[in-house]
Amino acid sequence: MPRKIILDLDTGIDDALALAYALGSPELEVIGITGTYGNVAVETGVRNALAILELFGRSDIPVYAGVPHARTRDSFEVLEISEFIHGVNGIGEAVLPEPSVQAAGGNAVDFLVQSVREHGEDLVIVPTGPSTTIAAAIEADDHFAENARIVMMGGALSVPGNVRPWAEANVNQDPEATDLLFRRSRDVTMIGLDVTLQTLLTTEETAQWRELGTAGGDFLADATDYYIRAYETTAPNLGGCGLHDPLAVAVAVDPSLVTCLDINLKVDLVGETRGRTIGDHDRLNDPVKTARVAVAVDVERFLAEFMQRLTSLAERTPARRDLVPQAADR
Ligand code: BDR
Ligand code: CA
Repeated sequence: MPRKIILDLDTGIDDALALAYALGSPELEVIGITGTYGNVAVETGVRNALAILELFGRSDIPVYAGVPHARTRDSFEVLEISEFIHGVNGIGEAVLPEPSVQAAGGNAVDFLVQSVREHGEDLVIVPTGPSTTIAAAIEADDHFAENARIVMMGGALSVPGNVRPWAEANVNQDPEATDLLFRRSRDVTMIGLDVTLQTLLTTEETAQWRELGTAGGDFLADATDYYIRAYETTAPNLGGCGLHDPLAVAVAVDPSLVTCLDINLKVDLVGETRGRTIGDHDRLNDPVKTARVAVAVDVERFLAEFMQRLTSLAERTPARRDLVPQAADR
């Protein structure tokens, strides 16, 4: 029986790769997507998720719009750095047709709460953006906080942040929400920069997608090449782009890909370390640890799984449309 999964995405290039990883994993049944803000505004992220689902022939999966801004703010504006890394349209200016299916009518928070009530332990929730919508579900229903199994991309325990010296991008958007998640959830796995900056992709791999000659292969290659070019500017020492969000999905499929430290976590909320994910010293001696932080990753095995799953998914999409010859060529 495949494991049920809900992705909470701010789609985003690596969110798109995470979605593709989930769709390409026979061990998973994607029962829905909730859309958060972050790399893009909620509406753009929802539109991207719908367009990607359509590309991969999975318009049957519902997409719900989540909370549009951080808890302590009353609006959201895309940061310049997000636009630089993911493009104005969030998918590296790759062009996908307008989706023919609309976002689902219901509310993302209700969908999350109901899904945990219905599926319990058979469901894993993978948030790959700011924690705002998940925090709202925790506040809406104690049963959700007690029973939701969460594998999240966000935070940094043993390495510096990526948008500020102490803060990782997703946690930085809404530190209060991630703090609430860490304090109230009973089962959280944190896939942070400690491991995601070890899992890097280069144009050598994206060329394999382009060679497929399919619409899916072209999309994955176009979006990811944009992301790789951005990384060449912001982090040239890495030699590739970080596969942050797909690693969280991969761990939901196979936890043995990472080694974890059991710990009770919190987020610093004031001062220069605002947004830092760190052990909660008030719960240091509590024998019950509610979180696991990934501190090591089997890079080779993850990259092999990643390429196999995405390539076979892209292979099954329609052939790239034949180019119409230009007047000068005729
Ligand atoms: C995280 O921030 C976003 O830019 C990415 O999509 C990823 O979820 C990495 O810090
Ligand atoms: Ca993301």
